[in-house]
Amino acid sequence: MSEQALRVLLSELAASLFQRGYAVGSAGNVSAKLPDGYLITPTNSSLGRLDPERISKLDANFEHIGGDKPSKEVFMHRAFYRARPQVGAVVHLHSTMATAVSCLADVDPNCPIPALTPYFVMRIGARLPVVPYYRPGDAAMEPAIYQAAAAARAILLANHGPVVSADTLTDAVYAAEELEESARLFLLLRGQNVRMLTEAQQTELLLKFG
Ligand code: 13P
Repeated sequence: MSEQALRVLLSELAASLFQRGYAVGSAGNVSAKLPDGYLITPTNSSLGRLDPERISKLDANFEHIGGDKPSKEVFMHRAFYRARPQVGAVVHLHSTMATAVSCLADVDPNCPIPALTPYFVMRIGARLPVVPYYRPGDAAMEPAIYQAAAAARAILLANHGPVVSADTLTDAVYAAEELEESARLFLLLRGQNVRMLTEAQQTELLLKFG
């Protein structure tokens, strides 16, 4: 895909996330890999109203080389690209349900959302590490995210929100949506007698789609 086409796709997918309430205000940021660097949403921009031409461009070393001032979360995105070389896009949201789960104190820090449905396993995988809280934009988060991302496609930042990666931008957005809806299901069903996917069902999904 050309850089121009990727800029347009990023703006369209971000607007779609915003319109459906997965992002509010200026929360969230999205990046995508190019042959010679990365595109990332500008800091303080609304995902609902991105101008494709003003999306920030970073070189292969994550230095700002074009467009508006980049997101303050470049470190977060860089940690994913460095930990998972096959990743083509990273989506960070403050989507309500996944962020709610990121605030729960009594969950499994390796997988706070149980395997309730196939698409959660297919898009997120077997692990969803919870990374300890860091102030937004704090560069100190990078080693912790790198370590977590080396073993998982998606993470929850404690008391902040989800970060999701995938090979393509479209798949990363799909995964972010799936994570949000899985968090919603988990919270809806909390305290109820739930039938989970079995280990064998999860393994089959991971082998076929993981
Ligand atoms: P930016 O506007 O700098 O991308 O930050 C938004 C955000 O979601 C912080 O976590």
